[in-house]
Amino acid sequence: MLSKEENDLITRTNDDSPLNDMMWRYWLPALLSQELPDSYSKPVAVRLLGEELVAYHLADGRVGLLQEHCSHRGSSLVYARSEGDCLRCIYHGWMYDVDGNVLDTPAEPARSVIKNKVHHPSYTTHETAGMIGAYLGPKDKQLVFPNYRFTEAPEENVYVTKVLMDCNWLQGVEGECDSAHVSLLHQRYDQLAEGRPILHDLAPEYETEETDFGLRLVALRKQNDRTQQYVRISSFVMPCEVWVPVFNREIHFYVPIDDTRTWRYDLGYLKRPVTQADVNRAHSDR
Ligand code: FES
Repeated sequence: MLSKEENDLITRTNDDSPLNDMMWRYWLPALLSQELPDSYSKPVAVRLLGEELVAYHLADGRVGLLQEHCSHRGSSLVYARSEGDCLRCIYHGWMYDVDGNVLDTPAEPARSVIKNKVHHPSYTTHETAGMIGAYLGPKDKQLVFPNYRFTEAPEENVYVTKVLMDCNWLQGVEGECDSAHVSLLHQRYDQLAEGRPILHDLAPEYETEETDFGLRLVALRKQNDRTQQYVRISSFVMPCEVWVPVFNREIHFYVPIDDTRTWRYDLGYLKRPVTQADVNRAHSDR
């Protein structure tokens, strides 16, 4: 059991918290592609690790990610106008490019050089598998985007959903790692008719294995005839993912919004095109 101090240490999302220090070093899902459907979409507010950000489409399809509050007087850039690959704040017209450079300050005197002195916080993004990932850490420490198998799957074989969880990210991960609930919460007695096993053993034994990516979690359940075991293997993958055996494989990301709220993204991929029934079933089977 964690002490309150230990719990705070790994759930607080202040700027200088150890959690942010660690999470900023990884690529994290920031929003779904469908939240920014095309280059004419309005900028969208993004909340991540206590940061208030804004995402927008560039003309070439890339996604820009800037600090939400204008470096001039703090207006929200959610209301900014997209101009080519830039955002123009609607208050006094400061214009920012995707790297946070200030290109125009129309309300300043002609002799003003303030735009050369201000740099607006900007972040790197990477879009794949229906999600837009963000890297918020130091630029010189940026990791290459992970080459997971789902990043190479055909678009039509992948599904991704997003839900708001009213708890901190660690509570979500803890629930996911606790495999015992699967025998009760997700038990479906109609599975017998489909030839799928019923989980008779409600108190699985656990084994864990430390790996270079995180932890491998093994739940062992006796089958009724006692000659076989049902072995359910899932993995905690740093910094906030759990890979679970739903269908082919499903990945659940628990991304901190702030100290008490979390975005959960569920990403799955099949060996054939996904149907809506697949997505519904994956979610009802958990
Ligand atoms: S507050 Fe944005 S330009 Fe003034």
